[in-house]
Amino acid sequence: MNDALPIVTLDGPAGVGKTTLARRVADNLGLSYLDTGAMFRCLALKLGPGAEKLPEKELRSRCAQWTFTLAGHGAHSALLCNDMPVGGEIRTEEVGMLAARIATVPTVREILCAIQRTLGNRYSLVVEGRDMGTVVFPTARFKFFLDAAPEVRALRRLRDLEERGEGVDLASLTSQIRQRDSLDRNRPIAPLRPAKDAFVIDTSNLDIEGVLNAILQHICAHDGAHFFPSINVMY
Ligand code: DC
Repeated sequence: MNDALPIVTLDGPAGVGKTTLARRVADNLGLSYLDTGAMFRCLALKLGPGAEKLPEKELRSRCAQWTFTLAGHGAHSALLCNDMPVGGEIRTEEVGMLAARIATVPTVREILCAIQRTLGNRYSLVVEGRDMGTVVFPTARFKFFLDAAPEVRALRRLRDLEERGEGVDLASLTSQIRQRDSLDRNRPIAPLRPAKDAFVIDTSNLDIEGVLNAILQHICAHDGAHFFPSINVMY
């Protein structure tokens, strides 16, 4: 425990609210925030459909053309790819599916894992993804796993999309979420699952504030103020 990294990991399935929560937790603790799903999405978009079938040498050399860095901190943390902010173009369901496919390729995972660890050595981070607590940062000091039924996650996503004026039907969202769950949970390398020492939160009946408080209270109750002096919990 003494050599635990001052890192907070947030893992969980698609649509569980990790991105919003990771940003809020990072803001509260005064840390930078890293969205590793955005790295997979960005690479998937840059490499295009079918990248998972490329020969390893070509895949390596194409991945090497893209660098990832972080700027800012707290809610203003930004992921940069080749020095350009990664934007809303990666947030479609189609890019999500492409990302889930390249995420099954060991070479891609190895490349992104190395970059994620380099960033973790440089900054105290809140990191969100699928394998942050299990594979990338197994000695992170605080690990969380957020979960909710596929139907609940699909409904949340539907509301988000409706707010943005995008119409999608609930049945197709639920089926996309199930498909992504299956790819993420059943891949042989770094499958989605809670780390043994993760605090698992079922978010089905909680709103964002409820989950945020559960996370911050858990950190506080486990000597969090020692690691993150600016922690601010509202009970
Ligand atoms: O969190 P997200 O929906 O933005 O992630 C997109 C895809 O990227 C997800 O389906 C699986 C993959 N991913 C992963 O395999 N490992 C991570 N640490 C983050 C994302």
